[in-house]
Amino acid sequence: MSEKAGTVTSDASRAATMIINNKQIQMPVRSGSIGPDVIDVARLYRDTGCFTYDPGFTSTANCSSKITFIDGEEGVLLYRGYPIEQLADQSNFIEVCYLLLNGELPNKAQLKDFDNTITRHTMVHEQMTRFFTGFRRDAHPMAVMCGVVGALSAFYHDSTDINDPTHRMIASHRLIAKMPTIAAMAYKYSIGQPFIYPRNDLDMASNFLQMCFAVPCEPYVVNPTVAKALDKIMILHADHEQNASTSTVRLAGSSGANPFACIAAGIASLWGPSHGGANEAALKMLEEVGSVDHVADFVKRVKDKSEGVRLMGFGHRVYKNYDPRAKVMQETCHEVLDLLGIKNEPMLKVAMELERIALQDDYFVEKKLYPNVDFYSGIVLKAIGFPVSMFTPLFAVSRTVGWISQWKEMIEDPEQKIGRPRQLYIGPAQRDMTPIEKR
Ligand code: CMC
Repeated sequence: MSEKAGTVTSDASRAATMIINNKQIQMPVRSGSIGPDVIDVARLYRDTGCFTYDPGFTSTANCSSKITFIDGEEGVLLYRGYPIEQLADQSNFIEVCYLLLNGELPNKAQLKDFDNTITRHTMVHEQMTRFFTGFRRDAHPMAVMCGVVGALSAFYHDSTDINDPTHRMIASHRLIAKMPTIAAMAYKYSIGQPFIYPRNDLDMASNFLQMCFAVPCEPYVVNPTVAKALDKIMILHADHEQNASTSTVRLAGSSGANPFACIAAGIASLWGPSHGGANEAALKMLEEVGSVDHVADFVKRVKDKSEGVRLMGFGHRVYKNYDPRAKVMQETCHEVLDLLGIKNEPMLKVAMELERIALQDDYFVEKKLYPNVDFYSGIVLKAIGFPVSMFTPLFAVSRTVGWISQWKEMIEDPEQKIGRPRQLYIGPAQRDMTPIEKR
């Protein structure tokens, strides 16, 4: 690692050398503050006429970032340098939002001010309520969220100038504040209940619970321990560096698109079962397995690749060790079930048995497949009362701060360019068109 973190090393002995088409070129090596060095290939095409080829970006850093660090081998996750375990234990979601967005933990006055700002942005334009009625009642809440969040840019024109730092900050606050309201409205619409307005006396997690579960005909009392657990879940999901949805937000934003449109793109990407949709898929899988007696058979099916069955909530592109979020989630799961007096939850038993078998099975050990954040989250969310279809929307609610922080960082990065990957073309070479009567 270089002495001066985050700069291109001037030490030529550390430059990467490549020989291609009998031409030798040198590429600078850059070091971050921690983590692997990167080889700067930006001039490769100009110097050699070649591209790099890396489907799925398994070896490609697309940007430099100061927000989140993951050491997948060791199972470490840091937000702005702070370990996820410390934040989950000692902080709260609103403070984590401030940290991710602004770079440092707030003092008391800054936190109060930020909390007040977010709280006062939680309502959505009243006209937006009519948007919801355009969807079928049985629409998945993620489908509704993709549409409604995209539509925010049609309502808040006064914060879509990406070149104005004040607009950028207001749009960020609006997105963090309104996303829980929109997700709760999508839920209420799907079950045919009236929308519940946000309440300014509640913290974010409590407010989300009341917007989802209150009804106008009787008072709703938030269970503080459930709210605390939900707050922790939101912290765990708040950011995860350059994952698929975050990269989507950055790529969409690199063209200069407004932040509401970019976050809608992120929501679409998150929905997939390999990403944010895995919590829903994991719970469905646990339900399908049904009982501890069927676990061994299910593991057999997973290992037999011809069946195309994956152990959902297991494995990760970056973590080749226990996902640190999964550890906190497992503890939270036990806490919530105890608190709610749920004993002998069959799905928890199935999950624990699956984990026990998988962690000692050669297939999973050799491939370094460990539980990820989604393995236990569905059990907690179900115990709290959320239907399966709300799991991924809740992920989106929590991840919005990460997306918008990464988007803001990208816009403010002087090295930022429109994202434009290249390709290895394998289609037909140039050929002449045959007139239709001769085909
Ligand atoms: N069950 C069974 N086998 C698996 C699994 C799994 N969950 N995950 C990976 N493998 C196998 C895979 O078949 C492959 O085997 P081989 O080398 O023999 O071809 C090997 O492990 C590597 O898998 P990969 O798909 O090349 O790895 P990847 O880095 O592209 O995929 C992943 C990462 C998360 C998409 C994958 O592990 C997966 O599909 N997991 C289940 C879905 C899931 O839980 N996703 C949530 C991720 S955490 C939340 C988030 O960030 O959104």
